[in-house]
Amino acid sequence: MADDLFTPDMTTIIVCTTCRRGEEPAEPKDQRSGAKLFADLESVAKGRANIRVQPVECLLNCNHGCNIALRADGKWSYHFGDLDPAEQVANILALADIHHAAPDGEVPWGKRPELIKRKAVSRIPPLTPARTTA
Ligand code: FES
Repeated sequence: MADDLFTPDMTTIIVCTTCRRGEEPAEPKDQRSGAKLFADLESVAKGRANIRVQPVECLLNCNHGCNIALRADGKWSYHFGDLDPAEQVANILALADIHHAAPDGEVPWGKRPELIKRKAVSRIPPLTPARTTA
């Protein structure tokens, strides 16, 4: 199944499972906010043909947990941070649906759910074929 992780037909929500919020303890690791966010997203996305949830340890924005990224082959990628798992699961899914529906993956500001609008960290353009020199 690894071959179809990043295709235009599926948006992958990458979730940092090691993120913590505030003074949250480091142990046990599976009780961190990032791990809970991953479990909640995986549960609600189960059975969705257009969305996949992928765990990862660290997206290099540790002081602003929780963090997720949206990716698909040939589309813009987005990174969001400072996400409270208790209030953002539905918003993250809504973002993933917008990302999936857009041919280029653009998630316009005006279409983002209100609570997550100001949580964008970065966006990265799709890869284009490498330039060749004559
Ligand atoms: S621990 Fe989540 S971004 Fe580093």
